[in-house]
Amino acid sequence: MSIVREVFGYSSRNEAIYSYTIVNGNGTTMKLIELGAALQSLKVADREGRFEDVVLGYDNSKQYESGNGFYLGVVVGRSANRIKDGRFMIKGKSYQLEKNDGPNNLHSGSDGYSSRRWEGQIVDDERGQAVCFSIISPDGDQGMPGRLDLSVTYILTEDDSVILEYEGVAGEDTIVNPTNHSYFNLAGHSSGTIYGQKVWIDADEFTPSDEGLIPTGEYRSVSGTPLDFRAAKTIGQDINSDYEQLVRAGGYDHNYVLKNNGNVELVASLEDEKSGRYMEVYTDMPGMQLYTGNFLSGKVRGKDDCYYSKGGGVCFESQYFPDSVNNMAFESPVVSAGVPFEYVTIYKFSVR
Ligand code: BGC
Repeated sequence: MSIVREVFGYSSRNEAIYSYTIVNGNGTTMKLIELGAALQSLKVADREGRFEDVVLGYDNSKQYESGNGFYLGVVVGRSANRIKDGRFMIKGKSYQLEKNDGPNNLHSGSDGYSSRRWEGQIVDDERGQAVCFSIISPDGDQGMPGRLDLSVTYILTEDDSVILEYEGVAGEDTIVNPTNHSYFNLAGHSSGTIYGQKVWIDADEFTPSDEGLIPTGEYRSVSGTPLDFRAAKTIGQDINSDYEQLVRAGGYDHNYVLKNNGNVELVASLEDEKSGRYMEVYTDMPGMQLYTGNFLSGKVRGKDDCYYSKGGGVCFESQYFPDSVNNMAFESPVVSAGVPFEYVTIYKFSVR
C-alpha cells in the first residue's frame, strides 16, 4: 500500500502538475492528476489476476489542459452537462454563460474546472488511501453567481472501490453540479469499443431530449424502448435502433432518473464477460448520464499512443438532470449560500 506524489508535467503557466499514484493491497493502482482533478489511470485485475488500465486518458498535461472537448477522466464543474441557451435565473437575477455547444452551454464552457489545476493533498481517511483536490471558483467565474469552494476526494479502498466525495460551500445561492467524466472500458482502455460489454441501470425512466440534447421536461418510461437496461444487456444490442432519441444522440447520451431518494445506492453496473471485470456504480445524486463515447472521433490520441474511436469507452456521469436549473419538473441543482453540501459517487470493481 502506498501513495506516490510526483511531477506529471507543467501547465501552460508553468505550474507543476502533480500526480498521485495509489496502490492497494490487491495491486489495484489508481493514478490521479491535479489537472481537472482527473482519474488518469486505473489498473484493475481480471479473473486471472491480469491487470489492465480500464479508463481512457492522456499521457501529458497539455492534452488535459486543452480538454479537446472529450473530458477524459476529469471532474466537470461548476455545472455538468447542458444548460439551455446558457441562461438561467436565480433569485430573480438572470445569468448568461458561454454558449459552447451550439446555442447551449456544455460542462460550464471552455473554462471549466475540468481543464484547470486543482490543488492536490494526501489526506487521512479511515476507508482507504485518499487524495483531496480543491479549487476556489470566484464570484462571477464562468458567469456563475457566488464564490464556490469545492473539493473532490478520491479514496481507493481495500475492496477496490473508488470513492469520489464532492464537498464544499458557496458564497451565494448558485448551481453546484459536479461530475466525473471517466470513460470506462473494462477490457482495457485501448482495446476497442465497449459495445460488447453489459450494462445494467436501476431506472424505470429517462428524460428524453430535444435536437440540442436538452431534456424536454418529460419523464419517459424505458419500457419497450432501447433505453431499457433494467435487465443487463450489451451496450451494442440496441444501440443502432432507429429510435429517435438514439439516432439524435448518435448512441446513448441520456439522463436516467435514479430511484435512490438521495441515498448512496447501487444504481448501475458494467461487465466485461471475457475478462470477468465487473464495475458497480453507487451514488446519491438524482440522475446519471449514460454516455457511450459517441463523439470520440478516432483522432483522439490517448495513453500509450493509442487512438480512441467512437464507442471506445462508456461514462456513468452522476448528476442533477441536464438543464435542471431551468426545468421546474426536475430537482434543482441550486445550493443555498453558506450551507455545506456533499455528494458521493462510488465505482466498485470486482470479478465474476
Ligand atoms: C455529454 C455529451 C458530450 C460529452 C462530451 C457528455 O457528458 O452528455 O453530449 O458530448 O459529455 O465529452
